[in-house]
Amino acid sequence: QDGTANPSGPRPSDAQSNADLIKATAYWLGADAVGLSAAPDWVWYSHDATGAPITPPHGQAISIIIDQGYETMSGASGDDWISVAQSMRAYLRFSLIGGVLAKHIRALGYGAKAHTATDGDVLQPPLLLLSGLGEVSRIGEVILNPFLGPRLKSGVITTDMPITHDLPIDFGLQRFCEACNKCARECPSGAITAGPKKMFNGYEIWKSDSQRCATYRLTTEGGSMCGRCMKTCPWNLEGLFAEAPFRWAAMNLPSAAPLLAWADDAAGRGSLNPVKKWWWDIELNEDGAYRTPKAPVNARSLQRGLKIRAEDQTLAVYPAPLTPPPWPYPYPMDREAGIAAFRALLSPEEHRARTAAGDTSHLHRTPDHGNSPVIRVEVATAQKMTQSVTKYEFRTPDGTPLPDWAAGAHIDVVVTPEFIRQYSMSGNPADPSLYQIGVLREDTGRGGSRMMHRIFTPGRRVFISKPINHFPLAEDASFTFLMGGGIGVTPMIAFAHRLHALGRAFALHYSVGSRAEAGYLADLAAAPWADRVHLHISNENTRADLAALLGRYAPGQHVYTCGPDRYMQAVIDAATTGGFPDENRHLEYFSAPAQPERENHPFSLHLARSGRTLAVPADQSATDVLTAHGIAIDVKCADGICGVCKCTLLSGTADHRDFVLSNAQRSDTIILCQSRARDPDGILTIDL
Ligand code: SF4
Ligand code: SF4
Ligand code: FES
Repeated sequence: QDGTANPSGPRPSDAQSNADLIKATAYWLGADAVGLSAAPDWVWYSHDATGAPITPPHGQAISIIIDQGYETMSGASGDDWISVAQSMRAYLRFSLIGGVLAKHIRALGYGAKAHTATDGDVLQPPLLLLSGLGEVSRIGEVILNPFLGPRLKSGVITTDMPITHDLPIDFGLQRFCEACNKCARECPSGAITAGPKKMFNGYEIWKSDSQRCATYRLTTEGGSMCGRCMKTCPWNLEGLFAEAPFRWAAMNLPSAAPLLAWADDAAGRGSLNPVKKWWWDIELNEDGAYRTPKAPVNARSLQRGLKIRAEDQTLAVYPAPLTPPPWPYPYPMDREAGIAAFRALLSPEEHRARTAAGDTSHLHRTPDHGNSPVIRVEVATAQKMTQSVTKYEFRTPDGTPLPDWAAGAHIDVVVTPEFIRQYSMSGNPADPSLYQIGVLREDTGRGGSRMMHRIFTPGRRVFISKPINHFPLAEDASFTFLMGGGIGVTPMIAFAHRLHALGRAFALHYSVGSRAEAGYLADLAAAPWADRVHLHISNENTRADLAALLGRYAPGQHVYTCGPDRYMQAVIDAATTGGFPDENRHLEYFSAPAQPERENHPFSLHLARSGRTLAVPADQSATDVLTAHGIAIDVKCADGICGVCKCTLLSGTADHRDFVLSNAQRSDTIILCQSRARDPDGILTIDL
């Protein structure tokens, strides 16, 4: 992907010849279209994934697009199981072509780096525009090519090799998309705007609701990811002679756009062609096995009768002031603010007028994320204490003190963006130079601890949260029992450091199966409070007699425990039997907060216009019941995402379960495919 240029390479300097040969090589390697342009500073990200600033190393860009496959797409719904494979196949093909081409350019003596879907330092859509590979389309950030339509994936190679540039193109797509909103109609999540272009982060685009799109792509049970907008677009062309008249008319007769869009729809183009389906639908399960999907596979027909109007849509957008900070850490999206931001987007004309008048209040600027919950640290040590327990220490890269913490605290460690794990801090709270944790490798877990053991080596820069303390120490206890089972000893060590510093009485009891699996033995033996440590080792028959250890409660005593559930329960049972009051027994659990279970009650739907009342049983939705009674109601996603089944709510208290409406809209509107009456046997009166 990247590397150093060959210092003795021939460095060919004829820009036109270089451009020709680069294109020829890319086509020979399998690219579907290639465009060349400058790579101005503004297409480069300001920082990389580790937070280090990026200084643009190259000024030239080679943009490549890869066809996702016309035939396969015609046999697909666009949001079924082949969808993700279509995307990833195209991305992988670029990764191969881009990697080979970049290496070849480096061999010639110039710097070159391939920017792929999984690792890149440049924004690709502006480069596709600059290099003439397409125009902005209604789909949003998708650049549409006149030969492939939107059915493409891209990649970019940046270089300092001199090359001549291609020019941006205008093949009439802006007019065409204004006259067509088929993608907005067919999008299962209702993410694509049916309205006009707006200004977003300084770009003039049809801004889609990417949160909705991403939610649908990640949660749909009938497939994996989605590209239905690409599939159904009239420009999803095969590139054959038969389609040349459409392309010519679309490019040359602006007034024909509405007619062409209508004719495309009337001809049923973009519908599902089962003859072209050549793949098995299989789903990767949590246990790692591939099986036939449980849910019905998405297989959508065109919704030609559906009218999508901008004024009926409730979209949310997240311009720079609302985007999550650029570090890999969970960040709650404020959808209400996103809805307000969509409404506040300016038209290009308003934007230009305000900017010309010297007003800058409308510009989208990234906020100061200074008060981050996350800090960037370096792995100082990774010490394997047993076969499966490793002690990690973190320090700031520049050696400055870490934020203060108190015994009992834990940190969230971003192992990789998909693995964020919580670990108790085991070091000395009085030492601001290091944070310390102990990590048990869980070979049958979900992979976070295994990944950490594999990739956390000294010198690696990682993100962790600031210390969070849900397990505080009562520092005025008359005596403190610190009870650690296995890796649960970690917070006990921090407590012991603190109690020792305070001169308090305590005992640390550490229970393990065998010495071979016990981490921290050397640390405990070397601690200034080593005489307070008691080891209980099952295979040495020194198992803890918890009832005898804790004895009868004496005023002011506290007990803390952490470890396997059964161990903690035994400690708490012994403490309870010994008379320790509830507030003097402390345990630490690490588990995700439970999501509230939603209960479905039966309720009644009263239809104001006809006066009918329909019973909605607990196992059916309002749209199921309406459809079963022959009452026409548009349904698209059935997941409360797209908003198509929106209806006026005249009275009744609803349990709103949609991902569409603003709080204000919920006072008089309901999404019928998901939302229900809040109370059992409640009545909702709707305007039907
Ligand atoms: S949900 Fe599917 S159709 Fe809608 S914008 Fe996303 S990818 Fe396109
Ligand atoms: S479906 Fe129509 S509106 Fe959407 S991108 Fe294609 S041409 Fe443009
Ligand atoms: S929100 Fe999509 S059908 Fe109800």
